[in-house]
Amino acid sequence: MQAMKSLFVCSFLFSFLSISTTTTLDTITQSRSMRDGETLVSAGGSFQLGFFSPGSSKGRYLGIWYSVDIETVVWVANRETPLGDSSGVLKVTEQGVLVLLNSTNRIVWSSNSSTTAGNPVSQLMDSGNLVVKDGNETNPDNFLWQSFDYPCDTFLPEMKLGWDLVTGLERYVSSWRSKDDPALGEFSLRIDHRGFPQAVVVKGAKIVASAGSWNGLHFTAYPYPQQTRPNPTLEYEFVLNKDEIYYEYRLSKRSTFSRYILNPAGIAQRLTWVHQTHSWELSSTFQADRCENYAVCGAYASCNMNVSPLCACLKGFVPKSPKEWNSGYWSDGCVRKIPLACSSGDGFLKYTGVKLPDTSSSWFDKSISLKECKGLCLNNCSCTAYANLDIREGGTGCLLWFGKLIDIREFTPGGGQDLYIRMAASELDQIEKKSKFNKKKLPGILLISSTLFLLGTLIIGLILYRRKKKLRSQGVRSMDCRKDCLGEDMGLPLLNLTTVAKATNDFSVKEL
Ligand SMILES: *[C@@H]1O[C@H](CO)[C@@H](O)[C@H](O)[C@H]1NC(C)=O
Ligand SMILES: *[C@@H]1O[C@H](CO)[C@@H](O)[C@H](O)[C@H]1NC(C)=O
Ligand SMILES: *[C@@H]1O[C@H](CO)[C@@H](O)[C@H](O)[C@H]1NC(C)=O
Ligand SMILES: *[C@@H]1O[C@H](CO)[C@@H](O)[C@H](O)[C@H]1NC(C)=O
Repeated sequence: MQAMKSLFVCSFLFSFLSISTTTTLDTITQSRSMRDGETLVSAGGSFQLGFFSPGSSKGRYLGIWYSVDIETVVWVANRETPLGDSSGVLKVTEQGVLVLLNSTNRIVWSSNSSTTAGNPVSQLMDSGNLVVKDGNETNPDNFLWQSFDYPCDTFLPEMKLGWDLVTGLERYVSSWRSKDDPALGEFSLRIDHRGFPQAVVVKGAKIVASAGSWNGLHFTAYPYPQQTRPNPTLEYEFVLNKDEIYYEYRLSKRSTFSRYILNPAGIAQRLTWVHQTHSWELSSTFQADRCENYAVCGAYASCNMNVSPLCACLKGFVPKSPKEWNSGYWSDGCVRKIPLACSSGDGFLKYTGVKLPDTSSSWFDKSISLKECKGLCLNNCSCTAYANLDIREGGTGCLLWFGKLIDIREFTPGGGQDLYIRMAASELDQIEKKSKFNKKKLPGILLISSTLFLLGTLIIGLILYRRKKKLRSQGVRSMDCRKDCLGEDMGLPLLNLTTVAKATNDFSVKEL
């Protein structure tokens, strides 16, 4: 007991040295509180709870940090109400509430819960979750309170990002105000569940970046399935049912550390601990390129990093404000050349390899086939596009868009997914004609004109004619686009190998 006590009172700066000993505490009880200078260490030694002052700040905060790197704080209790001195005490009350008291015994911060327990204790779990529960309770469903329900700027493995639809609780990540101030900053990373859920970074009420919706394998902003990426240590899950909507990831190896943070500038990054170098390595950054800025091209346009300019109107659409558009201000987007006819025969134009549009005004059904989905869209005049909800097993489910289509992005072939955009029948005819013209008529016309040219050269002389004929017929053959020009036909940019390799490599390191 004496050994335990002396261990408990040692300075937090030194307490991390005691991880290897077996007598560290991970729990406080009604009779055993925790003062500034003391720390709790989770049973597996991964995380510590204690008091700290970030950067140049003099305020004292109660927080959780990694044992391997005590500078990296993953959660802060009193982020808005720092203590002015080192007199803070953390207690668990009879009602099962965690309270942080200052020197005059006033509550500076507290947890809350709607239920009580006979023997409430607070335990720091090895996942980095600080929980309040009854005695030896091990079922998370029965915990009274947990810090994982109130994340700060760090999205840890096993945390849920999203909504508990039963209680109305939203779990979201919010940036610090600055690196010295853990108070609520300007940005948050959350699941927007108007329509089909999508992961977004918001500033106030404004979306600044969208990772898109979950397509069964990955968020649509990430063009390649996570399974194919060289990161077997991370497992992802997206849950959507009548009770909850959340995204979660897990580490298959407990000995590794990986965290997702939203920094004070609103940039989301994944960092992975490298034991060899004793440092955090950046594994991915969201908003790494201009196309990741939300709706950079406005409505009915798509963004493509591999072409210049970045933004292009969709087929059958023209810039809404041509002057601004041509000078690089794309936010007004594009408008239809031919308005929709609604009931009297609209159709759909298929796009492949795209990031699906913003889903905030979408509707979905998990069990409807793509064919029924098309029918539903056709039958509702305000429906503008449809797609499969889940791209696994050849595609299942139905996603419909109502209103403007924004935040579409084009990926290099092989990434992204299919999207069907509603168009007036006459517009589809024109697009069809154009592509037929490109495929068949263009070589035809060239053939005719070359023949005429050849006839003309007949007059010039037999020897000259023979040479010319050979050259021309080679020229005509290479204009037949069926094989070589397929990419151009489909409106996709033709890229050389290095561009593709570079782009794929860029994409392969991105994940949420
Ligand atoms: C303790 O907290 C109370 C309430 O927040 C505050 O009014 C008081 O000044 C604080 N005392 C000290 C010594 O900081
Ligand atoms: C707990 O506190 C949070 C924020 O401080 C609040 O949004 C939530 O409604 C509270 N929950 C309960 C059960 O009182
Ligand atoms: C809880 O754990 C303590 C100490 O490990 C033990 O003495 C006690 O019997 C346990 N209580 C229950 C209800 O399991
Ligand atoms: C079309 O869909 C919208 C949005 O879901 C809905 O409000 C409207 O009632 C639908 N109209 C018809 C005719 O079904």
